[in-house]
Amino acid sequence: MTETLTDAQSQFRSAMRRFTSTICLITTECDGVRHGMAATAVQSVTADPPTILVCINQSASISQPLKQAKRFAVNMLHLSHAPLVPLFSGKLKGQDRFQHGDWISLNGLPVLCDAQASFACDLRDVVRVQTHDVVLGEVRQAQYLDAIAPLLYEDGKLMRSSALIDTAA
Ligand SMILES: Cc1cc2nc3c(=O)[nH]c(=O)nc-3n(C[C@H](O)[C@H](O)[C@H](O)COP(=O)(O)O)c2cc1C
Repeated sequence: MTETLTDAQSQFRSAMRRFTSTICLITTECDGVRHGMAATAVQSVTADPPTILVCINQSASISQPLKQAKRFAVNMLHLSHAPLVPLFSGKLKGQDRFQHGDWISLNGLPVLCDAQASFACDLRDVVRVQTHDVVLGEVRQAQYLDAIAPLLYEDGKLMRSSALIDTAA
C-alpha cells in the first residue's frame, strides 16, 4: 500500500533526515521473554532524578511488553554494532534478534556488554501521542565505554562522528 503524505508531512520527513541521532536498541524482558528494537527517538530529560525518554510506535512488538514489565534498557550503540541495526528493525523477529550481540543482564534487563552506554530504567510515565508513546524512564543504573565512537544515523544512513577541530593540535 502506498502512503499518501501531506506537504507538511513530506517536508517534516525531509527536514528530519538532516537530524543526526545516535542509534540505540531499546530492550525489555517480560515473563522471561526478551524484546528489543532499534530507535533514535531517545533523549535525556533531567538529571534529578536521572530521566530519559524514548518514543515508541504503539504497533512495535516491544510496546506492550515494555509497559507490562514497567522496565526497559537503552543500549546506545558503538560503531561495531552496525550489523545489529537491520536485525533489530525488522529483519529478525522476537528473541531471534538476541542471537546477535553480546548480551548480559543488568537489573534483570538485556544490555549489550560492549554498548557505548547503557541505561537500565524503571518506567515512570507514558504519554500517548497519536501513533507513538513517549515513554519516560528513571535511570537506575548506567554504564559506558570510555572510548567514544557512537553509531550515528543521518539521511537514512549509518554514520560515524568526527571532531570539527582537533583540540589536541
Ligand atoms: C535507525 C532507526 C531508528 C528507528 N527509530 C525508531 C524510534 O525511535 N521509535 C520507533 O518506534 N521505531 C523506530 N524505528 C523502527 C523500529 O526499529 C522498527 O519498526 C522495528 O522493527 C520495531 O518493530 P517490530 O519489533 O514490531 O518489528 C527505527 C528504525 C531504524 C532503522
